Amino acid sequence: MNLKDLYINFFIEHGHKQIPSAPVVPENDPSVLFNTAGMQPLIPYLMGQPHPYGTRLCDYQKCVRTNDLDSVGDTTHHTFFEMLGNWSLGDYFKQESISWSYEFLTETLKIPKDRLAVTVFAGNDLIPFDQESYDKWIQLGIPKERIAKTVEDNFWIAGESGPCGPDTEIFYFRSEEEIPTTFDPEDARWVEIWNNVFMQYYKSPEGEVSELPHKNVDTGMGVERTTAILEGVLDNYLSSIWKDVIDLICEISNLPYEGEYQKSMRIIADHMRTAVFISADRAGIKPSNTDQGYILRRLIRRAIRHAKKLSIDINSNWEERIATLIMSKYESYYPEIQENHQVVLDVLRTEKEKFNRTLEKGLREFEKLVKNGTNIDGVTAFHLYDTYGFPIELTVELASERGLTVDEKGFEEKFKEHQELSRTASAGKFKGGLAGDGEIETRYHTATHLLNAALKLVVGPDVHQKGSNITSERMRFDFSCDHKLSEEEKAKTEEIVNRWIAEGLPVTVVEMKKEEAVASGAECMFLEKYPDVVTVYQIGEVSRELCGGPHVKNTQELGHFKITKEEASSAGVRRIKAVLE
Ligand code: ALA
Repeated sequence: MNLKDLYINFFIEHGHKQIPSAPVVPENDPSVLFNTAGMQPLIPYLMGQPHPYGTRLCDYQKCVRTNDLDSVGDTTHHTFFEMLGNWSLGDYFKQESISWSYEFLTETLKIPKDRLAVTVFAGNDLIPFDQESYDKWIQLGIPKERIAKTVEDNFWIAGESGPCGPDTEIFYFRSEEEIPTTFDPEDARWVEIWNNVFMQYYKSPEGEVSELPHKNVDTGMGVERTTAILEGVLDNYLSSIWKDVIDLICEISNLPYEGEYQKSMRIIADHMRTAVFISADRAGIKPSNTDQGYILRRLIRRAIRHAKKLSIDINSNWEERIATLIMSKYESYYPEIQENHQVVLDVLRTEKEKFNRTLEKGLREFEKLVKNGTNIDGVTAFHLYDTYGFPIELTVELASERGLTVDEKGFEEKFKEHQELSRTASAGKFKGGLAGDGEIETRYHTATHLLNAALKLVVGPDVHQKGSNITSERMRFDFSCDHKLSEEEKAKTEEIVNRWIAEGLPVTVVEMKKEEAVASGAECMFLEKYPDVVTVYQIGEVSRELCGGPHVKNTQELGHFKITKEEASSAGVRRIKAVLE
């Protein structure tokens, strides 16, 4: 039995219900692009809302973390990983949580006790030393030299605010060297394998800490790392999770997994897997120039560039073979992988074909530019982006391989300028490279503002946006509302939006101080997420919203608006799907 099955069985035996993995793109939390931890989809329940499956839950959750995307290529970093988690929602607390973790590791997985060490929360001004966890570890037989007390690393929160609490982390000595008697969490040979968070606090966006209604437990164990440990390999890519994928890349490239080739092979394996999971997700993400779509584009294009480095024939079906193998490894765990098998292959092939048209020329251009060891300025980086579809991160990577730098700030400025221009330019003017792809999304983006404003008129002023998601095929809009919309309400909403479109309202943008924007009645979803100076988009006299854009210039560009679905999203939140025809 593999780790995931062993874990789920163990916690089911201990009274937990297995919950399905949530989509990798959060459904009701527009503040993050991807779920980065198992607890993220559970936030409302950690905050006190009853969970339909009860108070003891377990799962394996698909997670994407892109903060160290550029570190991928070594033996341990991945952009996608599966997190095993078990939760108590006001049920058991430290005693059971710690006992079960220890039992699972030492009895089910048979990890030798002398390879384990733990950290516990040392205490600070607000929250005391976690004596209970410390005593529990001692009682279970962990020597005191193997229990480190820290403050910074033993308080867990996802980002800046939300449910949080002190934690105790379990480490494994991942080295063939002699195991030191005393545990030093700074010694990289000790790797963290499991984190048990005692989530009893809530930190507000203003930084105030309050008690949650329940004392919860939130745990997380990484499948990739733990599997590598159990299989005794020091390179994650040699574990059973990756080995056959690496072997296939060797076969396709006709190169060994050795020396300079290793990095490219790991990048291809990692990025292809993440691209598979993002494009198979229910959210229907497609490569684009914004948000999740941009991450997907970067991953695919970086994988292609490294495939090229290995002299793989980009025009062959290499990406299909790798993706098919990856999907075969996961389809029994994730139904969407099976359902969207063809979607994934189409996404990969289409993006490959698009990038491949300009890649070769772009690389030649790049070589010419750096021939004399010249650093890349912002205008040049933008030229590579706009004409050859090189994501800025790719240019940076290419440059750093030659010890050169890129003026990323200069690129940003040029990029912003271009966005301004393309808003005002007639459609299709900047068609080179990446440009043009976002036009449909831009129209949908403006349509969400109109929909938001129309719903306020039809349903009431208490309607507020709770989330949105846009693909080139449709828009999705979540909003606060306590009832199912009647046919009449839907028809009225459509009618208003279409009237505003027909009126050809101008879309204008102004910059102002955040407080002024709020005082002027501009609509805004997550105030604290915005900088002090914000851009406010105004559509005729009907809508004002804080927003980063981009938007169309005039509502006439939108076409005909039609609601295709109205359904519940979560308690008190309704979801509309709509298209522009
Ligand atoms: N939420 C905790 C983590 O991600 C368990 O480490």
